[in-house]
Parts: sequence; structure tokens; C-alpha cells
Amino acid sequence: MTKIIVNGGKRLNGTVKISAAKNSVLPIIAASLLCPEKCVLEEIPLLEDVYCICDVLKSIGASTEISKGRLTINPQNIISAEPPYELVRKMRASFLVMGPLLARMGNIKISLPGGCNIGTRPIDLHLKGLSALGADINVGHGYVEAKASKLVGARIYLDFPSVGATENIMTTAVMAEGETVIENAAEEPEIVDLANFLNSMGADIIGAGTDTIKILGVRDLKGSVHCVIPDRIEAGTYMIAAAITGSDLVIENVIAEHVKSVVAKLTEAGVTIYEKGNKLRVKSEGVIRPVDIKTLPYPGFPTDLQAPMMALMSISNGTSMITETVFENRFMHVCELKRMGVNIKIDGRSAVIEGVTKLSGAKVKATDLRAGAALILAGLAAEGTTEISDIHHIDRGYVNIEKKLKKVGADIERIEE
Ligand code: EPZ
Repeated sequence: MTKIIVNGGKRLNGTVKISAAKNSVLPIIAASLLCPEKCVLEEIPLLEDVYCICDVLKSIGASTEISKGRLTINPQNIISAEPPYELVRKMRASFLVMGPLLARMGNIKISLPGGCNIGTRPIDLHLKGLSALGADINVGHGYVEAKASKLVGARIYLDFPSVGATENIMTTAVMAEGETVIENAAEEPEIVDLANFLNSMGADIIGAGTDTIKILGVRDLKGSVHCVIPDRIEAGTYMIAAAITGSDLVIENVIAEHVKSVVAKLTEAGVTIYEKGNKLRVKSEGVIRPVDIKTLPYPGFPTDLQAPMMALMSISNGTSMITETVFENRFMHVCELKRMGVNIKIDGRSAVIEGVTKLSGAKVKATDLRAGAALILAGLAAEGTTEISDIHHIDRGYVNIEKKLKKVGADIERIEE
């Protein structure tokens, strides 16, 4: 079994370079299926989830090649609109091939996406959108089947600004006849990046990044070359690493606008942050003030940084409350953090955190991607050794996390047992 071992108490110093965004590259790779021409994505993050979605594309006849951090996708020879059941259910984001395949092939049969341990993660809004665009949809035996002899633009209101639903509707609508309007759309930067990629292929999308996205269907699309935006969640994770260790760290390749809510909350907590071009310098004297956090869709505080922020609040000099409004079961990390001496009480969707002066290293398990990151952060601050298992969760979303931290002075190793 592979584990990450952290000996806490070290201050960090130097520069961490942020990789391209996982939650942007995945929908963009899926969207490349829309046309039979080659697409090239520069500097992609070499993550488990990227390999997984490339396997899905290969399973239906596309070819993918990764060389020197560049991904070339050739979706010319798509031979099936039914990716293997077991492959799709391995990773929820594989469900994002539904829109592009329906638009290109006129039909799709795909496994229901696995829920995961942060919530049931239904797909009703995805199906509402595709049905509004003219798809006949059947759900049964663990599959979703959708057929559409013709896709016609529609006005679609999302009851929740779902990121995935917005993405699947966008990719289905780009070649539908007429105009599609998505109301109460997700506003995340990853939506803007996807729209930019689609427009570079010849689509006609305006309003991405706002709550109303307008898509005018076009007759065909062409291949494109695209550079994916930096990962704002990875950037936020390292910003919190600087705060929790009382360090002075430079985060490079970050778009400050995308982490405004994180900058605001860390500043409230007593951290000093300087912005210079595509770099943020994050400086903490080691005293962390308690702040209350409520996770919200973008531009609110991101749910993906809720667990890392909880690790930070666990050593604040007061009481804070974190409310998780996006997912219904995203406090799995609390049990593991408690092994390290945190003082946290959960009450429904809120957690009350009483800061403690010191955490202690312990043997803990990563329960999901961001929970695993939170355990590493807690380990960096804890007294003694923290041993984190089930780190495959972490490798899904963080490129070389232990190497990046080691390079700036953390005492951290990945070991094979
Ligand atoms: C994306 O997931 C991200 N994943 C998640 O990141 C992120 O936490 C989430 O957006 C919210 O920002 C990728 O982009 C690959 P949603 P997604 O649809 O699209 C409800 C990480 O750690 N909902 O916006 O699945 C749903 O139950 C991952 O990198 C419906 O009710 O998120 C949830 O409560 C975790 N019906 C809320 O919306 C639907 O049809 C947010 O889900 C769809 C969603």
C-alpha cells in the first residue's frame, strides 16, 4: 500500500507552481468528442482522473496521446456511443461525455455516474437539460439512454447552478438548431474555460461566467489547440498550506480573480497576501484568527476547499463555524482530523471548530480527494508523524503533491509498504 508520511512543524519557503485545472481539463477532453478533428491541450495535469477519462475516449474509438505534458486527442474514428459501464462508473466526470456523444452521434448509452462519499450527486438537472433540447431519455438497469434525431435550442432553468449539468447542456447545445439559453447556470471559471475552448472550435457561446449562458447552434465544429486555466483549488490548497505552517510562500501560475474568496477568508484569518502578476505571495506569522465559512457556488467560497480550510481553523485562536451548502455529506474528514486532536462538533450541515494550540501526528485515511489534502495540511502543522493511507484519492486531483511540498521545505515522503 502506498502512504504519505509527514513530519510536522517545518516552515515552508520558496515557490510552488500550480498545474492546469483538473475540473477544467476533464470537461474539455470530453468536449473534444464533438467533432472528428484533432484537438491539442497544452500542459495538462498528469492526474489519475485525466488518464481515466482518456481511457473512456479510447474505449469508444478515439485516440489520445500524452507527450511532454501535451495531450493530443483524435476523435475521428468514434465507433460506439456506449462507453463500458464499469469504466464510466469509476469516475463521475466521465459522465461529461454524454453531451458531446449525444450531439455527435445522436444517441448515447452510459452508466449512471457513481455517487461518491460526499453525496448522492443526482443527475436530474443534466437530464432535464438534454430532454429540453429534444432528447428521448430512458433510465434503467444502471444506464442512461438518450436518443435525439434532432437537437433544437431551448430555454433551460437550472434549479441549482450545477457545474456538470451546465457543462453537459453546453456541449449538447453547441450544434443544436437555434438558440439555447441556460438560466441560473454555474459561473465557475471552468465553465468559462470550456466555453472558450468550444468557441475556439467554432461554437457561438456568450455569457459564460454569468448566470445566463446563450448558445447559438452552429452546423459544424473544427479541431482546436487550447491551454487550460490553472487549478484554483490546488492554488487554494497551497495558500492554506502556507497559512497553517506559518510560512512565507509564493504560489505561481494562479489567476487571482479565481481565488478571491480564498484570499478574503485567509486575510480575515490574519494571513498577508500580496498579488503580483500570476503569482501570489502568502505570508503568515503563525497566528490564525477564527473565521466563519459558508461554501457556495462560484464566486462564493468553494466547497472543494472546505476540508483544507477546516484543517486551518482547527488551529485558530478561537471558535469558527463552517457550513457546507453544496454537498450533503462532505464532513468525512472530521473523523480522521479528530485522530490528530482537533475539537470539532458537527450539527447537520455545519461544523463548529474550537481551535487548539497543537495537533498531534497520527495514522489517518484519506476518504476523498479534498479530505486527503486536508490531512496532509494538518500533518504539516502537527507535532510528530502523520501517516496518510488511501492516497489514491489525493492523486486524483493533485499533481505530485508531496514533491511540490518537499521542494519548499516540508518533511514529507511517499512510501510503498
Ligand atoms: C463539480 O462537480 C466538480 N467536479 C466538483 O469537484 C465540485 O465540488 C463541484 O462541481 C461543485 O463546485 C468536476 O468539475 C469534475 P455540481 P459536479 O453538479 O459537477 C447537486 C473535486 O473535489 N446536483 O455542481 O458533480 C449535487 O447533488 C470535485 O474536484 C443536483 O441536484 O457538481 C450537489 O449537491 C468534487 N442535480 C450540487 O448540485 C444535478 O443534476 C453541486 O453539484 C446535478 C447536481
